[in-house]
Amino acid sequence: MHLADVPDPVAGPGEVLVRARATAVNRADTLQRRGFYPPPPGVSEIIGMEVAGEVVGVGEGVEGWSAGDRVMALLAGGGYAELVAVPAGQLIRVPPGMSWTDAAAIPEVFLTAHDNLFTRGRLAAGETVLIHGGGGGVGTAAIQLAHRAGARVLVTAGSAEKLERCRELGADAGINHREEDFVVRVRELSGGQGADVILDVMGASYLTRNLDALAVEGRLVIIGLQGGTISDIDLNAMMRRRLSLISTTLRGRPLEQKAEIVRRFAADALPGFADGSLRTVVDRVLPLAEAPAAHRAMEAGENVGKLVLAVD
Ligand SMILES: NC(=O)c1ccc[n+]([C@@H]2O[C@H](COP(=O)([O-])OP(=O)(O)OC[C@H]3O[C@@H](n4cnc5c(N)ncnc54)[C@H](OP(=O)(O)O)[C@@H]3O)[C@@H](O)[C@H]2O)c1
Repeated sequence: MHLADVPDPVAGPGEVLVRARATAVNRADTLQRRGFYPPPPGVSEIIGMEVAGEVVGVGEGVEGWSAGDRVMALLAGGGYAELVAVPAGQLIRVPPGMSWTDAAAIPEVFLTAHDNLFTRGRLAAGETVLIHGGGGGVGTAAIQLAHRAGARVLVTAGSAEKLERCRELGADAGINHREEDFVVRVRELSGGQGADVILDVMGASYLTRNLDALAVEGRLVIIGLQGGTISDIDLNAMMRRRLSLISTTLRGRPLEQKAEIVRRFAADALPGFADGSLRTVVDRVLPLAEAPAAHRAMEAGENVGKLVLAVD
């Protein structure tokens, strides 16, 4: 991974050109760097799935955005750059007073958490949710969104320090996945019922245990495969307890679906950054040229929340 001069992107029909001030690191970036997660067809080969900056150009057919607007955006790629062309439906207005580095910490993890907890997982007030990897970028966003929506929030993390940070963000109870059996602990913490929703970032290695930890009618939402892709399932156990298995990626979704995810988030959650019920969790800010160090920090599991890259 290195910096290089490349031709400037242009805003095509329906797109907006953004002068980047900050971007941020996601697990998928580290996979793409290693050749495992190529961008969808037609998308920039440059790594980077989110950006915050100013609108400097507007393509044909775009309404509601103009030069100088402060925006943050979800991207399918191209974020580690000075200029980025963004489909207009993926732009979010930066709340007044928010810094570029805070804004860049929002799109990918908050949109992922919001869509998967509420739209796909149908998490409701009063229900219990288990969030795996509570200290990560997605995890820290998911804890706050679920807590704010009135759910009871259980998390897993790999250290006492990370669990403490999760509690500060609104988690009701934490489970150290290196020391405790999360299935046993979830049952204990939910009066024997299990979790109504599990937001999972492990995949195969947790599949059987996740199904065991669900309540009747529970929904397992798989968004990460850090524990592998292939596993057997006891379908009989799923049927008897009426469990649902849901999985998705954000990056490959059609533009209209992404625009709908952005609309729902902006209407429901964006005001939370102004009223104090939501906050960005920035582990550290590094210059864009130090993206390799930021990737190493994420791969070593050092971060709580987001690793942000400042663009000069
Ligand atoms: N499907 C989608 O649309 C989508 C979108 C965004 C992200 N994702 C996925 O979501 C996951 C999180 O992404 P991120 O950017 O938030 O990365 P991140 O900040 O690196 O978070 C990953 C977390 O996984 C946790 N983890 C590792 N092993 C674990 C285990 N055995 N049990 C429980 N947790 C464990 C780590 O926590 P500890 O160090 O505490 O163990 C770490 O906090 C990644 O797998 C990513 O690919 C999916």
